[in-house]
Amino acid sequence: MNADILWDKLAGLPIPAIKWFDSIGSTNDVALEWAEKGAPDGALVIADHQSAGRGRMQRRWITPAGSALAFSLILRPKDEEMTRLTLFSGLGALSVSKALDELGLKSEIKWPNDVLIARRKAAGVLVELVWQAEQLQALVVGIGLNVAPASVPPPSEVLFPATCVETMLGKETNRWELLKSILRHLFVLRPQLSETSFMKEWEGRLAFYREWVQVEQPNQAILVGQVAGITDEGGLRLLTENQDFIVVTAGDIRLRPIEDKPLV
Ligand code: BTN
Repeated sequence: MNADILWDKLAGLPIPAIKWFDSIGSTNDVALEWAEKGAPDGALVIADHQSAGRGRMQRRWITPAGSALAFSLILRPKDEEMTRLTLFSGLGALSVSKALDELGLKSEIKWPNDVLIARRKAAGVLVELVWQAEQLQALVVGIGLNVAPASVPPPSEVLFPATCVETMLGKETNRWELLKSILRHLFVLRPQLSETSFMKEWEGRLAFYREWVQVEQPNQAILVGQVAGITDEGGLRLLTENQDFIVVTAGDIRLRPIEDKPLV
């Protein structure tokens, strides 16, 4: 793969510039730097191998060569998007989930940003922001998707069970068609961020819906509740044991099913 071939493969998408790397530390790092230097809206950074890929909460994100998708899209937020910044990780996750639909793979979104297939993590989204003084300049939407079995980290390396597209599909998958499909969905969904249909689609794919979960936030008590939905701001609605609704906003949150709680 190289930038020219990729350019042809992604023809028709509103991508004005591409940086391709056979190997790089983190595509998000390159994208953040490029965004600071003026990269245009829709610019794409993509790598075959990442040696220092990052996930949320300073976790490592492993991307072995030839087996995964690891890319970062630079978006210049429009005025009307400024109040919806918290929805961009959902935008990334929903785009992956809809691309998996096209392969015939059912997936769920584990709030806020993981894509699960059969309750195992196949993809993650890391959104980072570029500021200049008090002014937001750009969003970097970093997406990592396990495609071939070599991309799946060993159980000792992950907090949540992982899987990949090819294992769940039972056949080889063209990474570049999958990439095009994810990006196409992302560009189609982006103008719909404020629409009810977007929130409904996200909510409709919410993992653990109506199940008991625990939410861990650093330096705060663990919250326990049933997943009840997503707020318009992208927060997670939980129904507690006292039948109160609470909202968990973005932050260092872990979502885990608790097997021994009865469903109500
Ligand atoms: C997570 O699950 O915590 C998010 C993982 C995001 C990984 C992607 S891979 C492409 C981009 N570059 C990075 O260093 N991270 C994101």
